[in-house]
Amino acid sequence: MKTFEYPQSAAWFQRAVQVIPCGIYGHFSPAPCPPVSAYPFFGARAKGARFWDVDGNEFIDYMCAYGPMILGHGNPVVDEAYQAQMREADSNSIASTRMVELAEYLVDLVPIADWAFFAKNGADVTNYAVMIARAATGRSKIIGIQGGYHGTSPWMQAPGHHGLIEADHQHVIRIPWNDLGTLEQAINRHANDVAGFIATPYHHPVFADSELPADGYWSSVEKLLRKHGIVFIIDDVRCGFRLHMGGSCEHFGFKPDLICFCKAIANGYPIGIAIYADHFADLVEPVSKTACSACSAASATLKLIADQNLLRRSEQLGEFFKEKLHEALGTHSLLRHIRGLGLMIEIELINQEAALATHHRASRAGLITGTGNVRPGILRLTPPLIFTAEMAEETARILAAAISIADD
Ligand SMILES: Cc1ncc(COP(=O)(O)O)c(C=O)c1O
Repeated sequence: MKTFEYPQSAAWFQRAVQVIPCGIYGHFSPAPCPPVSAYPFFGARAKGARFWDVDGNEFIDYMCAYGPMILGHGNPVVDEAYQAQMREADSNSIASTRMVELAEYLVDLVPIADWAFFAKNGADVTNYAVMIARAATGRSKIIGIQGGYHGTSPWMQAPGHHGLIEADHQHVIRIPWNDLGTLEQAINRHANDVAGFIATPYHHPVFADSELPADGYWSSVEKLLRKHGIVFIIDDVRCGFRLHMGGSCEHFGFKPDLICFCKAIANGYPIGIAIYADHFADLVEPVSKTACSACSAASATLKLIADQNLLRRSEQLGEFFKEKLHEALGTHSLLRHIRGLGLMIEIELINQEAALATHHRASRAGLITGTGNVRPGILRLTPPLIFTAEMAEETARILAAAISIADD
């Protein structure tokens, strides 16, 4: 098995800590993911499903920059669409016709959509959705799911996060996932003051296992919210256009009022989009935000996914990948479970020690998998839709050699 070394990364890190808090922040900061010898700290270039670090080591990228690189790094069609628009105009002072084209495309593509509203990132659109819910109902409370992440705004952070004040959470009620009884109680307790309910289409929290909706969960939630006039918001920032071209709600068979899209829409170019039904149209103006200029990249990304039927391919490849992982790891005593939807796969090992050791050995052999460092016991594999059967086989081989309870 290969074992990468990272001397250049280490040297850059010494420079970084002089000028950037912690040197690197996020899940790949050395603080949350010891031992530091396991990871490359700094990347140099990326192409397709792979990237290279500053030491020249090559990795399959199972994080896709936390989701956005859905077509892989440097997709030529998307990059050309973006650059062609840049040559014409980028952040123009007045509106762009590219935005109209993209809105038309989305309104055709997404069944619940009558309108599309554009912003710069995921937090913009989840904030916007909450404001729309409050404006539409004249109420204050927002119900969310415990452990759910919707961006960096104060109301979205877990209670206890530094820098928050009590008022940030005063109107946010967090309930457990898949728990209709608690949802009903929360609605009844705050009679006539619940503006909106926000959740991801399936539960994929950072610090806990992913969980699918229980049978009938979404249809019951939909009924309950309709009965009480509560705005139904789906945060599809992470899963949007990975499960269904019409929004993940179509995959699970329900109809929200508002869908927040972001990461995958423009293959890494900065854009967030809120999609919503007719009855909120009048509320846009009072809470509108600056639009961004990656519409051409978004149109190219979505058309490429649709025209090449990449979601069907990703469903089949996901099943193949799970089969290969089962063949390679299935009988290993450290394995607990292999699960996943499409190309969003999780390998659960028996404990954190095994996950960290395996994660680190696999990293040094060329796989960057997600968040074994933050969720005890889990390796997350979310490759781009251009992933191949050969990469699945290569990964299964590396993981079979890497699975271990002890780090090197
Ligand atoms: C489910 C979900 N919603 C919202 C966001 C926020 O998106 P952004 O980082 O673009 O603001 C994220 C970011 O990871 C996310 O995973």
